[in-house]
This record gives sequence, structure tokens and C-alpha cells, in this order.
Amino acid sequence: MKKIPTSRLRKIRTWEPGEKTFQLISSGRNNESIPLIDLASNDYLGLSQDTRLIEAAHKTMLSEGIGAGGSRLVTGSRPIHKKLEKELGKWLGFERVLLFPSGFQANLAAVCALANRKTLVITDKLIHHSLLVGIKASGAKIKRFAHNNINDLERLLQNSVLEQSSQAPLVITESLFSMEGTSPDIKKIALLCENYQARLLVDEAHALGVLGDQGRGLCHGITKGVTMISGTFGKAFGSGGAFVATNNIFGEHLLQTSGAFRYTTALAPPLAAAALEALKFLKANPKKGQRLQEEAIVWRSELAKQGWSCPQGIGPIISLEIGNDEKSLKKQYELEKNGLLTVAIRPPTVPEGTSRLRLIVRSNLPKGTLQKLLFHLGEKQ
Ligand SMILES: Cc1ncc(COP(=O)(O)O)c(C=O)c1O
Repeated sequence: MKKIPTSRLRKIRTWEPGEKTFQLISSGRNNESIPLIDLASNDYLGLSQDTRLIEAAHKTMLSEGIGAGGSRLVTGSRPIHKKLEKELGKWLGFERVLLFPSGFQANLAAVCALANRKTLVITDKLIHHSLLVGIKASGAKIKRFAHNNINDLERLLQNSVLEQSSQAPLVITESLFSMEGTSPDIKKIALLCENYQARLLVDEAHALGVLGDQGRGLCHGITKGVTMISGTFGKAFGSGGAFVATNNIFGEHLLQTSGAFRYTTALAPPLAAAALEALKFLKANPKKGQRLQEEAIVWRSELAKQGWSCPQGIGPIISLEIGNDEKSLKKQYELEKNGLLTVAIRPPTVPEGTSRLRLIVRSNLPKGTLQKLLFHLGEKQ
């Protein structure tokens, strides 16, 4: 087994979530525990603690139990699954939606539905691990373009034409990169894919509920060029589980062929009910994501004034690059001591030499959080 350096070792720390703070229950470092303001989770809109979601899950649990007890194609399919798929399809503008127990699985299934050994997959250099696992499982050949670099993507698409492959290439990217906080120009990518007759898969895990018109992600409204999107309910939706959205042809193909869809217990009905309630919330509060973006702009500019150069993104993920693993961890623990929960992200999650603090601006943070953060973070050294 490969030896992992101490600064790269991970520990599972256990938390008790509250409406506004997180409390550490167990820690290998020490036993003291103070309530921490959550600047680390992907619960962007605070929906995981929302009473409406809790009640929806509870009601479904009382009527249907907890687990689905079978896969979707055996005994696990429930009306709540069908309803969630239908409502999401309408909201996002896709013909077909299929649910999964997790986003990791949804990505695995999405890639395998669109690629096989004969496919050339062209991906952003920084795509999520689950997509890479999908590419590996599909047996496809992979080429990567520089992060969010449309010219580099076009260069690879041009090369693929010269290679005269019998199959359309598959382009994969994300609409909000989880560790960078950056977003590509999806409209341009979709147009390129259309021009080069490539398929396009976009992981909208972090954008849904937050970016795009009414929080419907950055693919919403693009009528041509996007073949499939994946999304999760584990982030802004405050629940758990995930989905892929596509047209009827690819949806049916996925249903008939995907092991990741067929051979797994269906999404637990209470989680599906909570996700449906989150969708109801987003429809009733269409400006939520936009307000969060406005807040994130303020955070970015205040951090920049203090010497921190933030990546260009527009969303609630702010990545403060520190570079060195130990220094990033030290900063994390300093902030924790002062009541702020952030996480040092280190390789292999991010490229070598780019360890960072990943800050999440969430919509239900207590007043004065930014000022507190600026004070304890200090200037970049
Ligand atoms: C970009 C991205 N895609 C997919 C996933 C997987 O989603 P889930 O947590 O539902 O498995 C994550 C979560 O880590 C993610 O960050």
C-alpha cells in the first residue's frame, strides 16, 4: 500500500448540524467543541434543515416507510419517484428524467450511456472523480482540455474530425466546478458541440438551485447542443439522491442498459419527497439563487481587498488558494478555533501545490459572518 504523508491523511469528523451552526462531536485532535458557522457544506440554501422538507420526508416515511426495498425495475418504484421525475423534467426543460440514489452513480450511468470503447471523450481537466470513473468504466479514450478553455476544447474537437472516428465525440464538463468555484461558458460549449456534432454531458451538481434563470442551472434555456445533464439533491436541494435529464431516446437507452440504474435500490422515498419539496420551494422563490450570487460577489470583493485573489466564478463557492498543505490546514484550524467552519482541500482532490480553503457562501448564514471571517482570516501572507 502507498504511504500517505501526514499532511494528506484524512479523518472522519462527526458533526451535529443545527439551523445555523455545526457542532463537532468527535475529533482526533481534541475534545473541545464550540458551535461553528457552516462555511463548508454544499447546503447552499439551508434547505437540509428546512421544516417544510423535513415534514414532507416525514409524511412520506409514515405512509411508505423508509427504504424502497428494491430497484426501480423490480419493486422499488413509487409514485413519488414518478412525480419528482416529471416535475424536474418540466422545470428543467428535458423530456426524460431518471432518478439515482447518488450523484456519483448518476454520473457513472450518464457517461456509460453516452460512451463506449469506440468513443473519444473530451473533458475539462478538472471534472469530478465520478465522471472520470464513468469514463474508465465505459472504456472510452480520453483527452482533456485546459480548465474552462474553449479554444483548447475546439482544438481537440478539430483533431477529432481529422481522426475521422466513426462515432460522435462526447464532451464533458461541469457548470460550477466544486473546488474552483468557476463556470465555463456553457452556451459557447453547446454551440461548439452542435457545430462539431459532438454530444455534451454537463454535471450541474453545484449549479442547480443557485445558478441560471430561477436556479435552473446553466444549461437551462439552451435549446440545442446539450445531450444530457446530471444533478444531485445532496447540495442546494438539501436532500439526497440525484438524477440525469435527457431526451426520450437517451433516457430509454439508459433505462434499458445502465447497470448503475438497474442494479441498485431505488432512491429512498422520504428523500425523493424532500427533493420534491425543495423543487416546490425553488419555484416559489425564483430569486433565491440570484440573491446568493449577489452576496457571493460582495464576499469576493471584500476578500480581494484583503489581498486574497479569488477565482473568477460567480457562484457561492469561493476557493482561497494557499498552496501548501500544512499552511492550509493551519488556517482551517485557526478559523475553527474562532467559530468558523471551512475545510482545507488538498491533493489529490485538487492539483499538486494548490491546497486551498474552500469557502461556501450560504443563504442562511448569521448576520456579520463575512466581517467575522475577514477579521480571523487576516491578509494573505
Ligand atoms: C461535481 C459533482 N458531481 C457529482 C457529485 C456527486 O454527488 P452525490 O454527492 O449526490 O453523490 C459531487 C459531490 O461530491 C460533485 O461535487
